[in-house]
Amino acid sequence: MKNIDSFISWAKRRGFAFESQEMYSGLSGVWDFGYYGTLFKKNIKDFWWKKFVESRSDVVAVESSILTKEDVFKASGHLESFTDPMIECQKCRTRFRADEAKFKGKCVSCGSDNLSEPKKFNLMFQTQLGEYLRPETAQGMFVNFKNTLETTRKKIPFGIAQIGKSFRNELVSSGNFLFRLREFEIAEIEYFVHPEEDDYYFNQWQKDWENFLTDIGLSEKNLKKFSHPKKDLAHYSKKTVDWQYKFPFGWKELSGLANRTDFDLKNHSQKTGKDLTIFDEKSNKKYFPYVIEPTIGIERLFFALLWEAFEISDGQNRLNKGEIILKLNPKLSPIKVAIFPLVNKEGMDKSAQQIFEDLKEKISCEYDDKGSIGRRYRRQDEIGTPFCVTVDGETKKNNSVTIRQRDTGRQKRIKIKDLYNYLETNI
Ligand code: GAP
Repeated sequence: MKNIDSFISWAKRRGFAFESQEMYSGLSGVWDFGYYGTLFKKNIKDFWWKKFVESRSDVVAVESSILTKEDVFKASGHLESFTDPMIECQKCRTRFRADEAKFKGKCVSCGSDNLSEPKKFNLMFQTQLGEYLRPETAQGMFVNFKNTLETTRKKIPFGIAQIGKSFRNELVSSGNFLFRLREFEIAEIEYFVHPEEDDYYFNQWQKDWENFLTDIGLSEKNLKKFSHPKKDLAHYSKKTVDWQYKFPFGWKELSGLANRTDFDLKNHSQKTGKDLTIFDEKSNKKYFPYVIEPTIGIERLFFALLWEAFEISDGQNRLNKGEIILKLNPKLSPIKVAIFPLVNKEGMDKSAQQIFEDLKEKISCEYDDKGSIGRRYRRQDEIGTPFCVTVDGETKKNNSVTIRQRDTGRQKRIKIKDLYNYLETNI
């Protein structure tokens, strides 16, 4: 049975994620990504980008700065309202979130029931010069609303998309892997609509978003939708729906969709005196567009996708007990194909190297000639490589190799000249 501890140690061992600066005893809520983690993360972002930017003519992109002026967060309400309720233990002074899973009315550290009332703490990081590190990418899209509109000549409805680093001064409990971080990436879209069409587009985005979550590789049984009750809505929201994922420590927010109304554009316009309205040709009136915002943390998605794909064999299938296989969507796999010579002789290594050279510019691949072939297959299964190609004794005779499929372990022969086409159609 998989559990969070075996999962985290595998993720480190296989180069997906490392606690940042671990040799200096780590930095709470900050993680680094190893080679396979970096490739995997890039593939997640590319998948999102392809789906919501490249394949849509109504969504464009922007890359806005991380450093943000205080005035922007005054207008957006973050300075006042971007807070989390925290409880402080009066005995040992530990501070923890009021919604922390371990909190059962007693201090999560020393067990004392001498606790403060929940107090609000602002989650933004301020720099020494007074600017802030943004806690979300959204404001960078609102302050670029007019620039984008003018330079792309889009008409309402249209969206601005962005993926970027965000920072929150969160209290992080150990063992939650990438769930709650202080430095993380958000992928979000601000979709601008006519105020009378907000409910229609909200529903459209719900469908698009649900398809995205399942297309990328999460199963429906591990996802559930949660509508925020009115009293718990963020300061800018008329309606918010979250998608929760069944993380190893329970159902938790993975992603959200909010109707931000005209809150942000109106406030930025009022604070700066800049006109952020649209002229409606039908009614001959100006209006502030409403905003529908689908948002997701890339690291949370990274975590969910890995957890979903991670299996430890119980020995009842073709794998031995305890062997790990990562059944990732091949589009997200860090390495798409591994190329092996069966043995390092009779020219097999040269042929395998040649195949690797021919493929490596077109597809993410890896060459491996160390250890037994079985161990090489195992290693690739563990990092989710969908295909392994082996050059063997027959290759010289008829220019063919074996190609092995990760999830079934089945192999078939294929001509070297057909290899790339085969991979392209099956990934
Ligand atoms: N612009 C809206 C916004 O920022 P949010 O729900 O606060 O909304 C968006 O954050 C997404 O970012 C969340 O759905 C979650 O996936 C991710 N997220 C939020 N806080 C996070 C944290 N401390 N660590 C990792 N991911 C986080």
